[in-house]
Amino acid sequence: MSVVLPSSPDSAIPAAPSAALALRFCGLSFRSPIVLLSGCVGFGEEYTRVEGFSNTDAGAIVLKGTTGSARLGNAPHRVYETADGMLNAIGLQNPGVDHVVRHILPSLDFTETRFIANVCGSTIEEYVEVTRRFEDSAIDAIEINISCPNIKEGGVQFGNVPSMSARVVAACRAVTAKPLITKLSPNQTDIRENARCCIDAGTDALAVINTVTGMAIDVASRRAVIGNGQGGLSGPAIKPIALLKVKEVYEIAGPRGIPIIGQGGIVCARDAIEFLIAGASAVGIGTALFYDPLVCKAVNTGIADFLHAQHLSSVTELVGTLGTAPRARDAAC
Ligand SMILES: Cc1cc2nc3c(=O)[nH]c(=O)nc-3n(C[C@H](O)[C@H](O)[C@H](O)COP(=O)(O)O)c2cc1C
Repeated sequence: MSVVLPSSPDSAIPAAPSAALALRFCGLSFRSPIVLLSGCVGFGEEYTRVEGFSNTDAGAIVLKGTTGSARLGNAPHRVYETADGMLNAIGLQNPGVDHVVRHILPSLDFTETRFIANVCGSTIEEYVEVTRRFEDSAIDAIEINISCPNIKEGGVQFGNVPSMSARVVAACRAVTAKPLITKLSPNQTDIRENARCCIDAGTDALAVINTVTGMAIDVASRRAVIGNGQGGLSGPAIKPIALLKVKEVYEIAGPRGIPIIGQGGIVCARDAIEFLIAGASAVGIGTALFYDPLVCKAVNTGIADFLHAQHLSSVTELVGTLGTAPRARDAAC
């Protein structure tokens, strides 16, 4: 596995909230296994004005999906609350890669956490252009979003066909030496085959899963609620789907030393621990931030308490332990 405890810090990143939470992910030092997810934290500054919030509580933060040119996004409504979840079809609103690299990255404090770009495109050429631009920047790693369900061209069209996914990954791999993470779609027949193709094409890590496609209907107008007609479902409603996808991808990625950022509906430490056991080396939090921007602190504390109760010295000892017997019962969470 490429995820091991650091013997010594390799950067100016402050000490972990708990030493047991620190890990290395694709050669990067993470202070915590928590990754704040793309689209839910703006460009890294979103919550820094909220009292009690600190970027240092997260191992990494993934910036909003970025394209070659600025995009205005979709017509409203763009978000809608569902039972235990949220539909969104933002449509990748962003100011374009040039603006992000020139004006946003210089304002981020890279001593606080790791910042990961989220690269999107309508064509393979656009993915390559955006990746190349981030390669010449301070960004710590690059996540390729081949799973966005909310744009008309590109996005999930690449992510649902393994051979197309592999072409995007190989093309981006050719222009960057930074850690490359590929974000997989749950909206496909066999996520394992796609994971295998992306690994063969050179991805260093996988993010599992993006949102699940869905819709809501307004019965009075008999129209779709979301302006785009459909959207991506996130939040607790998708957690069981996400957990299974992580477990399936781990069957392929684990033996090959490819780490996974597990995500989809995590709101508390127990959720995060389930994803670690299923095979995730790090865990993403997105939708939960909208109603509790301080959720990160509680999840860090809960994981640390669980490790202590289970007599484990590192969060990495939990990864992929599904089906193995715990050392102690009734651990707090
Ligand atoms: C409002 C919103 C915007 C999102 N935008 C992006 C995006 O730009 N790029 C991306 O890869 N994922 C995007 N996502 C997906 C999340 O990063 C995450 O994978 C998904 O929501 C599942 O995690 P969660 O249930 O914790 O939110 C977005 C999700 C939401 C709710």
